[in-house]
Parts: sequence; C-alpha cells; structure tokens
Amino acid sequence: MYDLTVIIPTFREEANIRTIISEVDTVFRNSCLNGEILVVDDNSPDNTIAIVTELKKSLLNLNLLVRTADHGLSQSVADGFSQASADVFVVIDADLSHPPALIPKMYAEIRAGADVVIGSRYMEGGGIRKWPLKRRIISLGATFLGRLLFPEVTDPVSGFFAVRKSVIAGAKLKPRGYKILLEVLGKGSWENDKEIPFEFSDREIGSSKLKIKTIIEYAQQVADITVYSFVHHQSAAWREWKKVFKFGIVGLSGIVVNLGIMFFLVEYTALNDYPANLLASAIAIEISILNNFVWNDLWTFRSEENRKYSNRWYRFVTFNIVSAGGAVINWGIFLVLTAVFGIYYLAAQLIGTLVGFIWNFTVNRRVTWIR
Ligand code: GDD
Repeated sequence: MYDLTVIIPTFREEANIRTIISEVDTVFRNSCLNGEILVVDDNSPDNTIAIVTELKKSLLNLNLLVRTADHGLSQSVADGFSQASADVFVVIDADLSHPPALIPKMYAEIRAGADVVIGSRYMEGGGIRKWPLKRRIISLGATFLGRLLFPEVTDPVSGFFAVRKSVIAGAKLKPRGYKILLEVLGKGSWENDKEIPFEFSDREIGSSKLKIKTIIEYAQQVADITVYSFVHHQSAAWREWKKVFKFGIVGLSGIVVNLGIMFFLVEYTALNDYPANLLASAIAIEISILNNFVWNDLWTFRSEENRKYSNRWYRFVTFNIVSAGGAVINWGIFLVLTAVFGIYYLAAQLIGTLVGFIWNFTVNRRVTWIR
C-alpha cells in the first residue's frame, strides 16, 4: 500500500511531464516515501501520453489515467481521487509551478493530524514569480471571493494541496473549472487545515489554459458552495455563516437595548432634555456595546481554543475600539451619501449600517476574537 498518491493533471504537457515525474520520484526516494504518481490526462493530442507510457516501463509506481468522457482540470483531479491507491492525495501541476520538494512536508502535516494541507502563495513566506498584472488581478479577485467562504484560508484557490481520502469520501463534489480545492473545502468533511508557504513560479514552457469561461465557472462554483453550505449545515463555510448570523442577531438585540435604555433615561430620569439627553444617548450606546460584547463573547465566538486574548477585559476594550470605528464609518457614509450625493436619509443610513456591520464583524473577528 502506498503512503500517498501524487495526482498530476495534464493536458498537452509533453515539454514538462518528464521533469515533473522525475522530480516527484526523486523526492519520494530522498524522503523514503512509498508514493504513487498518478498522471490524469485529458487525451492530450501531443506526446504526453506516449512519454508517460514509456516512463511507466521503468517506474513501477507510475500510473496513467487517460480520460475521454469529458474535459477539465477539476474533473481530472476528481477522477484521480477515485482512481488513486493511497489514503492521502497530493495534487500538483505538471508545469513545475509548484515545488515537489514540499510534498514530504505536506505529508508530514497530514500524519500530524491535518485533514487538508494547502500550499499558499498568499501567506508570509509565499509568493508569485513572473505573473503578468492581469493574471495577478484575476487571482486576487478569485482569492478574495474564496476567502469570503473560508476566511481562515489564505489561498483557497491554490492548485497545490494535500488531502486525506476520508475528507472527500462521502462528499458530493461537483468538479468544474480550475478550483478543485474550493470544492474540497466546501463539500468535504474536515476540521483541521494547515497552510505551507510556497513560491509559485509561472510555467517556463507551454501556456496556461485558463479562459474567461473558467472565471465564470468559478463564480458559479462559489455561489453553489454557498447554497450547499446553507442546505447541509456542516461545511466550514456554514460555520462561518453561522457566526455572521449570530453577530447580526446580537446586533439587533443591541438596537433594542440601546433604544430601551434611551427611553428609560429620557422618560424616568433627569437626562430628558438637551444637552443632558446627549449623555443619555452616550450611556445607551455604551450599554448596547456591552450587551453586544457579552453575547458575542458567550455565544457567537464561544469556542475557547479560538480566543485571541484570554483576558475578557482585553477583548472588551478591543471590541469597544473596533465598534467605535464601525460607528465612524457608518456616520461618514451617511454624511457623504446625503450631503454629496443627495441620497434619501434612510437609504443612506441603511447603507452606512451595512458597511459598519461588515466592518464590525470582520475586524472584531480578527482583532478581538479569533487568533
Ligand atoms: N487533465 C487536465 N485537463 N489537465 C489540465 C487541464 C484539463 O483540461 N487544463 C489544465 N490542466 C493541467 C495542466 O496540464 C497543468 O498540469 C495544470 O493543470 C495547471 O494548468 P495551467 O493551465 O497551467 O494552470 P494555471 O497556471 O493557469 O493555474 C494553476 O494555478 C492556479 C493558481 O494556483 C492551477 O493549479 C490552478 O488550479 C490554480 O488555481
């Protein structure tokens, strides 16, 4: 039984296939890994298939799957998953954009308990070499969309990753386009992910097969995974959405508290007239911030191991500061939309509140609660 299967999707890779197979095999030998190499080719019209067939004669751990039913990178990788012999899979491009030298590290992380290990271009230590500006912009857009679903993952669209077979065993993958990793993260069952930085170096030979259609397919895929996460309530994307809903409910409770306290202070205390009612307003705002903090701390971001600061007072102070930032953003947007663009005041306030909410959630999530 193999320790791992390295899946290499290929389409017209006659210029690279020999090198990548030899590099992966050398990595296996140097790190004493008993690995299988599985090339999944979409019936390339060049010599890719002939070269792999030739190499197979001397490399017993090399296998070839030639697909003819359909065509596509993600579909090929998914077929590779079902054809692979080992319980751990590593997916790597044939064009030497991904360093095979990292395979043993990825495998070690899986052995240490990770379910998915991602080669990341966007974490400290990672990077991209020789990419045209257009390609960088497309990639950043794709990464941004992917991070909406998986904020913890810096590179959810990487083509270089390792995954346990069990993660995707029961998953209803709908592979299409280029982003098979996003599909695995969205529909697989996993708890622990780990990222390893790497420098993506654009192919020296041949050209990328990425097209406009690929970008449209990606947008459909993100929408599909979002719906899936809502329906199945189990993926990491759903865990994230649950936090957003809870944060929203807590925010609504804060409005009730704010108005209730304001009503009480103005109706039943001496803080009933200008300028004393400004103090009433400030008290009501602070108590509603306190209300929101307590509920978010005890409910939305309850899980202990995610705590950024162990001291609740620290969290309270940061929450106050970030929320004050949210209020300034809300107010600033209101000002610009009404004074500069003449937008109806309630619409302006609603837009300001929504942007303030996004700020409060994303920044507090990172700064106040989750490490
Ligand atoms: N079987 C098969 N079928 N393989 C394909 C197909 C296909 O239709 N299209 C591309 N490939 C193979 C290529 O032969 C290569 O091994 C690998 O998939 C990547 O193809 P490129 O076309 O060079 O991809 P890219 O550089 O634009 O995109 C890569 O980087 C992105 C960013 O990390 C891929 O790894 C993407 O998955 C990744 O998101």
